[in-house]
Amino acid sequence: MPDRLTPRSDERTLRAAYRHCRRAVRRRDPVQYALTQLTPPALRPAWWAMWAAFSAADDIADDPGTDRAERAARLRDWTTRLDRDLAGGRSDDPVRHALVDTVRRWDLDPSTLHRSFATLAEDIGGREFATWTQWSSRVRRSNHSWAVEGLHLLTRAGVHIPLWLNRTESYRRYLDGIYLTDTLADLADDLSRGELLLPADVLASFPGAEDGLRAGRYTPAVRDLVSHLTGRARHWLHQPELLGGLPPGPAVVFDAATRLFMARLDAVDAAGGRLLHWRADPSRVTRWRLLAPARAQTALAWRLLSCPVDHRTPPLPAESQDSVVVESGTVTSPPPHPSGARPPSLAPGDLPRHVAVIMDGNGRWATQRGLPRSDGHREGSTAVREAFHGALELGLPYLTLYSFSTENWKRSTDEISGLFALFREELRTHSFTQYGVRVRWAGSPEGLPEDLVDELLRVQHETRRQTRLALTLCLNYGGRAELTRAARALAHRAATGQIDPARIHEADLAAQLSLPDLPDVDLLWRTGGEHRVSNFLPWHAAYAELHFTDALWPDTDRRDLWQAVTAYTRRRRRYGSAPRVPERPRPDAPAAV
Ligand code: IPE
Ligand code: IPE
Ligand code: MG
Repeated sequence: MPDRLTPRSDERTLRAAYRHCRRAVRRRDPVQYALTQLTPPALRPAWWAMWAAFSAADDIADDPGTDRAERAARLRDWTTRLDRDLAGGRSDDPVRHALVDTVRRWDLDPSTLHRSFATLAEDIGGREFATWTQWSSRVRRSNHSWAVEGLHLLTRAGVHIPLWLNRTESYRRYLDGIYLTDTLADLADDLSRGELLLPADVLASFPGAEDGLRAGRYTPAVRDLVSHLTGRARHWLHQPELLGGLPPGPAVVFDAATRLFMARLDAVDAAGGRLLHWRADPSRVTRWRLLAPARAQTALAWRLLSCPVDHRTPPLPAESQDSVVVESGTVTSPPPHPSGARPPSLAPGDLPRHVAVIMDGNGRWATQRGLPRSDGHREGSTAVREAFHGALELGLPYLTLYSFSTENWKRSTDEISGLFALFREELRTHSFTQYGVRVRWAGSPEGLPEDLVDELLRVQHETRRQTRLALTLCLNYGGRAELTRAARALAHRAATGQIDPARIHEADLAAQLSLPDLPDVDLLWRTGGEHRVSNFLPWHAAYAELHFTDALWPDTDRRDLWQAVTAYTRRRRRYGSAPRVPERPRPDAPAAV
């Protein structure tokens, strides 16, 4: 079904249908949604459609407001309509419409999906398992068909996952581990419908646990049962041999999925009595910590993948289309400097690609005026605005600002919380999108207030399509910590057989950094009179031209940035080579010493 033959209104309906599915996944299961974001972009809409379809059918089967006969009839009706829609190639229901498109686009086998709907229909009659063996066989009947179609989908996209017959039992155990983890996280929801989806024999071995669960009481027997079950799920999820031989992309996804499900089990253990009332899930910060490196690695792996996904352009770009994005044609210019100063006219080829700034001197600026240090930081935020306006006017592609270092935790709690409040406020009030600025965050969420992390991730997400200037905020950033994290990730990949230690190259380490595509720093400028780099971007600034100025950061404006760049254009960069002919100093270059 080539896209170019699809009439425009149909295309719009289809996009809306996939958007509906994406929202459904994100709302119901943020962990699953996060995992879909690690797969090749072209495939994501297909996962959303399949997942949303399964959930829609599951909701009908589980609807607590209706009796069994009615639920069975509704589910039958839903699947009959799906068959009709599949034959007709479209549907008036958004979930089925997206699923129909996915099945046709990727040539999936509808009968496999039907098998799992049939299992849901059987479940309406009641789900009871005497033993783990019965439990597994039920789980496998409904989930394996989706796993098989998932594998088929990957193969169609050119991602070949070798399956070893002698590992069949490990694959099955792993999927059982996933399902048991989900059952534990969803315990409250199932109990609210009077269901307890665990084998009778395990309940019997913890006397009193079943009564406690059904009465909503977190008794010692319930606690022991839960801890036994999380242990069992961890054991099933621990199948390291499944990683062996996987290509880099799938290996990262598998590894991230395992870590996320393990984190979900940690959340179940940590929930205590809340488990009986709320769904247990890893916090947003934990998810971010686990997913950020995986996202970077998969982005790289899928870029290297030579797969036939291009001719099957999905109806929806992989990223969200909910938020309004100002297209590059409609971005506005920043307000000019009050003095009317204009940027120097420098040849674009002479400009540094990446300028990084250590904005130092806020505290001294305030102290010199008898003001609290926080006033210096506040004044400094005007200079931040000036810097990125100046970068836009000059046409710099990358500007990176050191906002808070991992060493800055040594400051008073008052100063730190004042800084965080300021960051929050600035992130909320700047109009980055209006100027075409893409904001990215480098640093660690560890120790930061959760709402600040949320704010950073929000701005990062909202501005992700802007292309005029990439503004990186190094916030809670430490260069050594970044390199250590990268080394740890490489060591893990070596220990699990994903890479050969003898073949680790610079690019492999760079791929593990917070923002793997951040280019080398050409110009590193520090204000405030200190001549040091204070743990800032050691990897990227290895060959940076250094520029130190005495002015305190709040006293600077965009003209200082322009001056720094102008000075840079007079430098001669050699990268270790020797000049072939004696160099003549460029005009205005400082005399050689
Ligand atoms: C830099 O200014 C800003 C941050 C570290 C957040 P300082 O606060 O270090 O200012 P001085 O060096 O004490 O003057
Ligand atoms: C570096 O400034 C960190 C930031 C600008 C965020 P500092 O003022 O903290 O650096 P040192 O401690 O003087 O080296
Ligand atoms: Mg300082």
